Amino acid sequence: MMIGLVALVFLSCVIGTSQLTDYKPIDLVNSDAPIVNTEYGKVRGVNLENANAFFGIPYADPPTGKYRWKPARQRTSWSPNILNATEDPAACPQSCFLPPHTCPNKTSEDCLSLTVFSPLTSTPASKFPVLVFFHGGNFRQGSGYSLLQDGRYIANKTNTIVVFVNYRLGALGFLVAGDGPDAAHGNYGILDQRFALEWIRDNIANFGGNPGKVTISGQSAGAQSVAIHLTSPKSDNLFHQAIMESNPFTLPFRTKSDSINQAKYFAEDLGCKAGDVDCMRAKPAEEVVDAQQNSSTKIVNVFRLLELFEPWGPYVDGIEIAQQSVDAFRQNAFQKKPILVGTTSDEARANLFVAIPKPMDKLQYYEYTVAIMLQHSLRVLLKYPPAKSGDQREELSEMGHPYLFVCPNRVVHRAVAAQKVPIWTYVFDHALSFDGWGPNFTFCDHHACHGSELPFVFHSVNLAGLHYSDAEKVLADSMVTYWGNFVHTGNPNSQGWEQNETNKGIKSLLDWPTYDEASARYMNFSTPQNKIGSQYMGKDCDFWDSLHAYP
Ligand SMILES: *[C@@H]1O[C@H](CO)[C@@H](O)[C@H](O)[C@H]1NC(C)=O
Ligand SMILES: *[C@@H]1O[C@H](CO)[C@@H](O)[C@H](O)[C@H]1NC(C)=O
Ligand SMILES: *[C@@H]1O[C@H](CO)[C@@H](O)[C@H](O)[C@H]1NC(C)=O
Ligand SMILES: *[C@@H]1O[C@H](CO)[C@@H](O)[C@H](O)[C@H]1NC(C)=O
Ligand SMILES: *[C@@H]1O[C@H](CO)[C@@H](O)[C@H](O)[C@H]1NC(C)=O
Repeated sequence: MMIGLVALVFLSCVIGTSQLTDYKPIDLVNSDAPIVNTEYGKVRGVNLENANAFFGIPYADPPTGKYRWKPARQRTSWSPNILNATEDPAACPQSCFLPPHTCPNKTSEDCLSLTVFSPLTSTPASKFPVLVFFHGGNFRQGSGYSLLQDGRYIANKTNTIVVFVNYRLGALGFLVAGDGPDAAHGNYGILDQRFALEWIRDNIANFGGNPGKVTISGQSAGAQSVAIHLTSPKSDNLFHQAIMESNPFTLPFRTKSDSINQAKYFAEDLGCKAGDVDCMRAKPAEEVVDAQQNSSTKIVNVFRLLELFEPWGPYVDGIEIAQQSVDAFRQNAFQKKPILVGTTSDEARANLFVAIPKPMDKLQYYEYTVAIMLQHSLRVLLKYPPAKSGDQREELSEMGHPYLFVCPNRVVHRAVAAQKVPIWTYVFDHALSFDGWGPNFTFCDHHACHGSELPFVFHSVNLAGLHYSDAEKVLADSMVTYWGNFVHTGNPNSQGWEQNETNKGIKSLLDWPTYDEASARYMNFSTPQNKIGSQYMGKDCDFWDSLHAYP
């Protein structure tokens, strides 16, 4: 039964998008095409109508062949050729079940690239601040660039440089197996992100960016990644501010032994002996992805069933990742940098309804709760009893929302605020008026599911042929402006760029107070207008805190 629950679970559901409609036909030899220098040679981008874009610049040499399961390597120069960064790049190999039109069109194991958007006015002297985005997708799916995650609007309106990063996913990114020089040490996806941040430090000035003013951001698995960099001394000098959208802090990073045991199932699926990494290196990437998917549902540790929600993520190796993120924040082992952080108002729903495709009865509700909550089950069932009748998945998502997302986030808010580090929190509480979810995610219609804020942060739905209502346009513009302000000044309320007719945010924004434990104020992103709230799910979080049931 648990296998049924977890078999299909994946964590990051982003909003579906459809066709890109306003891409101008691209004339590659157009004299307007921007050409920029990097340490590795020149790149030719495209001149979109409101920003420059450089699609899929390789930031490392291909992690293929004998370099599979090795840290990213410095890029070989392509000079004197000019690299054409003019097409939607290949994503890392994956089996993708995200909502419509968000899955990559193509994949390749040679996927370590990033995509840069810059204002049309950029020159190497501009020193615009930089917003880096790490995508979600449960460390198994998704890509840096998609129509939904497109930086042209925010670059244009707020004079920022926006960078989307591909990093290795699934078994290719996170396998832990073998001994000696050929061993796979896991956490490669996280190392890739850091390698990309180093590339940004060394090259972004040529695109008009300021390497001394970098904000890292991410959603879901991307937000988990941001938390790892915020708590890792090795990433400290590479960024200055951070944004975390919908971090499922309660999902545990694996232990080394759980990772190695997981890898045994994987090796078996792949037709290799456990620990025989040479054999695994010789298999085509498609077979690796198949075996990764097949072994994702295997229960490695019955006492940590939540691991099944993220079968191929980072693990605590004691080097890159010293401990679970919540613990790192609680123990004051994080960098003191301005933070903007939040959740949607219905985080667990999408994943639970995908995992459990049929309505759930009361008995199943008890079974699932006991299997996951173990010794806490009785208290949890008293606090979150099943409904008298009807589909208990509704109740399960009401439990999962605070437990997996909201309440561990509150622990982090409090830990950061206690150090007098400025932190702003939000709840995105708006259900899409347009059809962003498609036919496989109808249970998210009328709900602010996981991922709902993304098309607003990037003001991107028109690229997908969808349309905001008037109120949604105001909401999107407010978020773009707060994000732009934050990227410029480290404060979402302080305007950081020169405004002109084509290049302006919203002037009269609601003041967004910093978080403090006593008032616990947050921005409620909503239509017809944003509001300031306080103590979001405070009672629920007091309950979950009292259980000590975060990882
Ligand atoms: C992926 O392919 C579809 C169908 O050809 C196309 O409409 C869409 O624009 C492509 N996506 C990206 C991100 O280029
Ligand atoms: C923003 O886009 C408009 C066209 O929509 C363009 O005229 C303007 O130059 C752009 N501004 C920047 C800074 O890219
Ligand atoms: C890049 O595109 C230009 C124009 O289409 C073409 O002439 C050139 O050969 C391409 N460069 C490479 C390295 O493919
Ligand atoms: C819905 O899911 C099915 C089964 O996974 C898939 O074949 C189909 O392409 C999905 N539909 C859309 C619109 O994504
Ligand atoms: C994965 O499972 C599917 C169906 O259960 C099977 O057809 C396929 O051969 C398996 N792949 C591997 C690599 O074990």
